[in-house]
Amino acid sequence: MDAREMKIKAAEAALAHVEDGMRLGIGTGSTAEEFVRLLAEKVASGFRVEGVPTSERTARLCVELGVPLKSLDELPALDLTVDGADEVDPALRLIKGGGGALLREKIVAAASERMIVIADESKLVDTLGAYALPIEVNPFGLVSTRMAIEKVAARLGLSGELSLRQSGDGEFTTDGGHHIIDASFGRIPDAEALSSELNSIPGVVEHGLFINMAALAIIAGPAGARTLQANR
Ligand code: 5RP
Repeated sequence: MDAREMKIKAAEAALAHVEDGMRLGIGTGSTAEEFVRLLAEKVASGFRVEGVPTSERTARLCVELGVPLKSLDELPALDLTVDGADEVDPALRLIKGGGGALLREKIVAAASERMIVIADESKLVDTLGAYALPIEVNPFGLVSTRMAIEKVAARLGLSGELSLRQSGDGEFTTDGGHHIIDASFGRIPDAEALSSELNSIPGVVEHGLFINMAALAIIAGPAGARTLQANR
């Protein structure tokens, strides 16, 4: 089974949790896109859902495939969000934001009764941090914000390159008009502490640590999909 087939397996298993009439948060990334494709097939055969997309990219795919969309202001309380992740640890803490949509993804997940994460098994790790942590920052005062991130990291015994994400001919800009610093800390032993320290920096808009958000992770490997449950 190749990586795409594993993503489809995870997406199929997540679709089994979607009930007729649900208000759904719809994630971003290649795994979430497989979910959108399968969801669109169900919608075409009469299944009713209303989706809130977590990015302009996801919104475009949903429109193209006929998945009905609403804004989060129109549907401020959602039943379920299904989204991908860059890393998942055994407590279902996540690193997200590889696709640059972490702010909307976190807002949508927080507005949902439940979040299900879908991923192939390469995303499962013992400790978060091998994947560079995306930190969404306001373009104003970028240098100061970067220094503040370095200070926080040093206090927590973390170090590593902080690189401003690029795209095409300049800095990558998120749907919200912000930039992303990818922090290569290597290993994050205390994700909770890092999360709250980063949240205290004014120039940090949001970061890609999703803690206590996912209720289930559906992880697909060559033998099929298995479900991990959060112990909360
Ligand atoms: C986007 C994300 C994605 O969910 C994450 O990057 C995983 O993407 P993929 O399914 O393509 O590996 O957080 O901001």
